[in-house]
Amino acid sequence: MNITRAANVMLTDPSHARLEYAPEFDRGSAYINGTFCSIDEASVPITDGGFMQADAAYDVVSVSKGLFFRLEDHLERFENACKKFYLRSPYDKNETTEILNKLVTLAGTREAYVWWAVTRGPTPANRTDPNSYNNRFYAFAVPYRFIASDEQRERGLDLLVSKRYVRIPPDSVDPTAKNFHWMDLKLSLFEAGEQGREWTVLCDAHGNLTEGPGVNIFFIKSGKLFTPDSGCLEGITRKTTLELAAELGMPVHVKPVTADELRAADEAFLTSTAGGIMPINSVDGIILGGENGPGALTTKLHNLYWSRRWDGWLGTRVNYGR
Ligand SMILES: Cc1ncc(COP(=O)(O)O)c(C=O)c1O
Repeated sequence: MNITRAANVMLTDPSHARLEYAPEFDRGSAYINGTFCSIDEASVPITDGGFMQADAAYDVVSVSKGLFFRLEDHLERFENACKKFYLRSPYDKNETTEILNKLVTLAGTREAYVWWAVTRGPTPANRTDPNSYNNRFYAFAVPYRFIASDEQRERGLDLLVSKRYVRIPPDSVDPTAKNFHWMDLKLSLFEAGEQGREWTVLCDAHGNLTEGPGVNIFFIKSGKLFTPDSGCLEGITRKTTLELAAELGMPVHVKPVTADELRAADEAFLTSTAGGIMPINSVDGIILGGENGPGALTTKLHNLYWSRRWDGWLGTRVNYGR
């Protein structure tokens, strides 16, 4: 079985083709301070705590073939993140859904990456009182771009387990609340680049695997699927993968796992809204399963993920109003 060239399908299949849009929305649309605008015009107030101090919660949902995927799950996760960070969104779930629909409609795309956030807001006169801030809502939609291209997913990514950086601990910033604390993740990509690797995964202070830049980590050993139980975002693609694996009859283990177990795995992959299921070829230079390319079970999960989505599974049709 070959990896489905999902990016190519999105670009070439008429049922994924872009709808009409005004030229200013070519690169995407945004919603800033109650107003819709093109992504090129969008800006944030320079004193916003989200910009200055990573003081924000956010979420990302994708659209493919004109369908939001698991929108309710994303809205729910976002609401929980706001609660954990004492942030109040000015919009409830229905109002947020309306804004996200309008953004995708303005961009006229059936393949979209849709981002939204609530930040602490611009610095008030009494900046030492966290309750005196006016929390702000921002959002944008851009045409979907895979973080791992068809070519990369076909050959598998070369992954580095970061040796320099430990993922920010849950006692410092709760990773289950999607947040802006990305410096450890970002710096690990420089570490990977210096060694000719493409992506990373970080461990916690005890040496257990957590997550990577925008991704959850999975591996397969003797037909069983493993993923960390803590120290990471509860990814919606992770949840989807666990469900699809159970459907395929794969035993699933959500538990503490180490870098040594990952390096000794038969197969491994990353998951993200921004790329679906992304096969790993090697970990720290070790070719998994002793053979280049994605493993058979990873390929099965990858292809099932896209075929299910395109069949409308857990999808909410975008209301393009036309
Ligand atoms: C730190 C982190 N971990 C994991 C993920 C994957 O989560 P999801 O599948 O919901 O996109 C993301 C997504 O951006 C992330 O930022």
